[in-house]
Amino acid sequence: MAKSVLSEIQELRSSLQEHNYRYHVLDNPTISDAQYDKLFRKLQGLEAKHPEHFDPSSPTQKVGGPPLPSFKKFQHRVPMQSLQNVYNAEEMTAFFDRWQKVVSSFSVMGEPKFDGLAIELIFEKGVFATAATRGDGETGEDVTANVKTIRSVPLKLRPPYPDLLEVRGEVILLKEEFNRINEERAKLGETLFANPRNAAAGTIRQLDPKIAESRRLELFCHGLASSDGTGIQSQRDLFEQFRAWGLKTNPLLRELKSLEEIASFYEEVERKRDALPFEIDGIVLKVNAFRDQRELGFVARSPRWAVAYKFKALEENTRLLNVTFQVGRTGTITPVAELERVEIGGVEVKRAGLHNEDQIRLLDLRIGDVVVVKRAGDVIPDVVSVIVEKRTGKEKPIRFPKTCPACDSPITRMEGEAANRCSNSVCPARLAESLRHFASKRAMNIEGLGDRWVEALMNKGLVRHFSDIYSLTLDDIRTLERQGERSSEKLLSAIEKSKHTTLDRFIYALGIRLVGERTAELLATHFGTIERLLDSSEEELTNVEEVGPTVAESIRNFLSEKHNQREIELLLKKGVKLAKIETHTAGTQFMGLTFVITGTLPALSRTEAEALVRAHGGKVSSSVSKNTSYLVVGADAGSKLDKARELGVKELSEEELMKLTR
Ligand code: IVH
Repeated sequence: MAKSVLSEIQELRSSLQEHNYRYHVLDNPTISDAQYDKLFRKLQGLEAKHPEHFDPSSPTQKVGGPPLPSFKKFQHRVPMQSLQNVYNAEEMTAFFDRWQKVVSSFSVMGEPKFDGLAIELIFEKGVFATAATRGDGETGEDVTANVKTIRSVPLKLRPPYPDLLEVRGEVILLKEEFNRINEERAKLGETLFANPRNAAAGTIRQLDPKIAESRRLELFCHGLASSDGTGIQSQRDLFEQFRAWGLKTNPLLRELKSLEEIASFYEEVERKRDALPFEIDGIVLKVNAFRDQRELGFVARSPRWAVAYKFKALEENTRLLNVTFQVGRTGTITPVAELERVEIGGVEVKRAGLHNEDQIRLLDLRIGDVVVVKRAGDVIPDVVSVIVEKRTGKEKPIRFPKTCPACDSPITRMEGEAANRCSNSVCPARLAESLRHFASKRAMNIEGLGDRWVEALMNKGLVRHFSDIYSLTLDDIRTLERQGERSSEKLLSAIEKSKHTTLDRFIYALGIRLVGERTAELLATHFGTIERLLDSSEEELTNVEEVGPTVAESIRNFLSEKHNQREIELLLKKGVKLAKIETHTAGTQFMGLTFVITGTLPALSRTEAEALVRAHGGKVSSSVSKNTSYLVVGADAGSKLDKARELGVKELSEEELMKLTR
């Protein structure tokens, strides 16, 4: 008998729910995004044809509905409290001493303190019903329509669950997504968000849910309004239960049993802070046993059983001394803030990025202003705002130059773009930047060919094009001032070594506008050889995954220019070898999986191992993250192995990898 439509719909729904759970909670997807989309569209199609089988908790309902006229108020059944903060070991010890007097056997759960926005999620009979902001703790706003679009919030819990569940969590924006949104806003000349928290808050408070849908928010669960009826006895069990229900929890949870362990967890998390994909501003410690929590109770609006142990701020005030202008490799003129030295979170800062002319105008920035500077990760810090109250009247306006600071050619601004560019395609500053990019680690990886060499080689007229690098001789390099024999030899051997590379690195190294590492990889997999890429039409380029008309046009323009064609030809003639990227022909068993390769493998070279993974449908990434499916480990593996073990990423030897491909 043919399967009924309803049972087909139900099977698709539960299969999509399962894949969501594997992706968001277990971090271990078993199908590729494309396969997921296919199932999703199939379900959408069936549901559209059969409206009688509509279900508001179907995975297809995780999309932004129509705009709302306003937000409804929402009264929290149990008020949402806040945490008391401590800022140093002494204050932490005081808390610890108080806890020790009450608890039977000491145990706290340590977790990161997310820099986001507190949210309550309500599930009725296992179905997502309402989400509300904290507001003043008693009354918040009903933001159900926006929270519904968050991919890591399930519309249905995995059973068993109580009739009513009120979950507390934090909505955040990943740093990467925050940067993407700001880059887009910078391009459109819109005001930038000062930080991911503001961006998350601004998104949750948009009346149009389509906006929330387009910005990938995340939600980490960290508490319950009440554990009544759940049978859960401790913070530790709660986190386990969250995962069992299919709710996302943070990856940095640790049970701690002494003040020493608390101190070392604090240090460990602070050390990892920059490398985390989201912003945190401290750790939160919660007495583990709910019985002890009840005993400790509350004071004013905070629990006595929890505390936020905050990190040093990553924002400081300082004075803007001057604004200088840098020329990038595509000719973009970027304003840079020269600041009075200031220490931010243990790092000395004297320069910060200002993005573009519009940003200076939007901040209403003037030389002499006291500004708020924020450091995030290892990227250049940002000027986020001006403290207008500190103005004396002596501040001076900032003039954006009309001509390039390096070559004096006119600066132009294309319509619809926020960037100002030097109009001279052979501007020396652009060339220097292009060379630096070409040689950089993730491009041709010519070790040691940094600022100092680029400048010296350009000044002597030894390098004008990428390909000139491969004609350099030891004598050439020796003629440069202050370059020792040993470092000259080292550079030459690094240049030689860089000749063996892969097509994706090579494409990335060319510095085509709008072609970053990811696009380069997709182009390489699609075309397989540089010749095929050179022959491609604009239309064919748009067929490449994630390549839109603007990017295709930029690639085509680059490849059509005679001097670029000649340059590519020369590079190949001078011995640059591009390992062939196999397109997905050998197998599909690695579809949806991401591999990282580390250390020296016994038989395969790095390039060969990468090609093997790709040939079987897998992705290769250069850094370990929670999205890594396997780490392939060779001899002398370093920090990647440590990180993988920390995240619990599965390890494979070369032999095991090969076995899997058979
Ligand atoms: S537990 C009684 N855990 O910090 C309050 N809160 O200052 C229990 N926050 O409103 C909160 N990360 O928005 C808890 N791991 C975490 C947190 C966290 C961030 C926020 C939360 C709360 C604020 C309190």
